[in-house]
Amino acid sequence: MKKKVTVVGAGHVGATAAMRLAEKELADVVLIDILEGIPQGKCLDLAEAAPIEQHDCKLIGCAGEYSEAKDSDIVIITAGLARKPGMSRDDLLATNMGIMRDVTKEVTAVAPDSTLIIVSNPLDAMCHVAFEASGFSKNRVIGMAGVLDSARFRAFIAMELNVSVENTHAFVLGGHGDTMVPLPRYSTVAGIPITELMSQEKIDAIVERTRTGGAEIVGLLKTGSAYYAPASASVEMAEAILKDKQKILPCAAYLTGEYGINDLFIGVPVKLGENGIEDIIEIKLTEDEKAALDKSAQAVQGLVDDMKRLA
Ligand code: 2OP
Repeated sequence: MKKKVTVVGAGHVGATAAMRLAEKELADVVLIDILEGIPQGKCLDLAEAAPIEQHDCKLIGCAGEYSEAKDSDIVIITAGLARKPGMSRDDLLATNMGIMRDVTKEVTAVAPDSTLIIVSNPLDAMCHVAFEASGFSKNRVIGMAGVLDSARFRAFIAMELNVSVENTHAFVLGGHGDTMVPLPRYSTVAGIPITELMSQEKIDAIVERTRTGGAEIVGLLKTGSAYYAPASASVEMAEAILKDKQKILPCAAYLTGEYGINDLFIGVPVKLGENGIEDIIEIKLTEDEKAALDKSAQAVQGLVDDMKRLA
């Protein structure tokens, strides 16, 4: 039987994720939004592309109605506002926390055995909202950020060294914000650490571009934020779960003591398989790297505290 993935939010990220899921023939897709006509129209358009793209996945669009999401294997939540130029992801907190709470409750009522992939910003804080609203176990609430941030890091490494992106691996830990922690020591080209291949100055520039990668796109688009890479990152995570790949990817996970961090969602390497997060991988960090991760955790904790005040 085909798997089912529900995508909540039919904006650019959600619709692109729906397209990639179908074109990779990973699952039937239910696309839900509050705007009447948008999810239905986008799904019909994608279904009409199916004969050319050669897939048989069903695409069902629903406006404000969650029954089609029944028994989904995975739910990808992209609902909420995206930032505009001059805004930080944290500026979205007050609006998006209400949206996240409502859609999580709606969708988990009909898909109680699903795994949630959270995409809305500010990402790590939104994972907390979904975790609480769903009552799901911690292995089934996963935030998409590290895969995106690492993909940006990898793209910049490949551009700088003029090598295939396929040769690149990179790790970015921490929150999905200005305090994220790209790890050059664990970032490689064909297995060679980039610290052997590039000057410190170049690495610093790439690290900074990675940290501000989302804002760079917002500055160019002016009307919204990135969506192709965020959609690809979400679908890579969904694929790892649907195919039980046991794939190690950096994702926001609820930590209960790992890395010395407690009761907080933050980006760390995890192993994804049919049970969602199968394992949290603890890699050795230098003092500086650990200090940077702690600083990032404090920033996320600040948002979690703000949400308590706003609630
Ligand atoms: C980004 O980094 C949307 O947060 C997302 O582009």
